[in-house]
Amino acid sequence: MTPQEASERAEAICRLAPVVPVLVIDDLAHARPLAEALVKGGLPALEVTLRTPVALDAIRIMSEVAGGTVGAGTLLTPADVRAAKAAGAKFGVSPGVTDRLLDACEADDLPLLPGAATATEVMALLERGYTVQKFFPAEASGGAPALKAIGAPIPQVRFCPTGGVSLKNANDYLRLSNTLCVGGSWVAPKEMMLRGDWAGIVALAQEAARLG
Ligand code: 3PG
Repeated sequence: MTPQEASERAEAICRLAPVVPVLVIDDLAHARPLAEALVKGGLPALEVTLRTPVALDAIRIMSEVAGGTVGAGTLLTPADVRAAKAAGAKFGVSPGVTDRLLDACEADDLPLLPGAATATEVMALLERGYTVQKFFPAEASGGAPALKAIGAPIPQVRFCPTGGVSLKNANDYLRLSNTLCVGGSWVAPKEMMLRGDWAGIVALAQEAARLG
């Protein structure tokens, strides 16, 4: 898959809803009800971070939920890319990039939303053909004003800002012309998952789906 094809696919996924939930799943039993709740609430694109032992199995289970598009986050290495692809991930997300990671995603046909935080990083990815990127860590890197400033000289790159994004500041990003959607963990709080409060997560997803 070329970087241009990956960017087209990433853009389509980013346009599914204003928010891509960033999910840290500790208990595999949460995978199916969590995916069902988020999709029901209007957030079909789901990023499962590869930070827990059950993450790959969670991707397998969540991929069976009708209406969802499940991807793998926290891709750091070519081995992560292969494992995510084998688990059925439809897209990948990374906090930053290395040439080896980009090579692996392109070779394994996994559309990547690659992370960048500075104009230089954005330009390096653009040079390789990636026009849709994750602005990470968004708030720590200057937030919406920084992303707006990057958009002045480099308007052809569009972003999914992630990291410190919440219901409070999401619209600051979503109103920027270079923002397609935002990523955030706030729609799937750990306490609600532990309580099995899936109705509560449906409500959080509905609230997020109305943003923008
Ligand atoms: C992460 O690193 O977990 C993501 O960027 C999500 O960040 P958040 O928890 O601030 O939404």
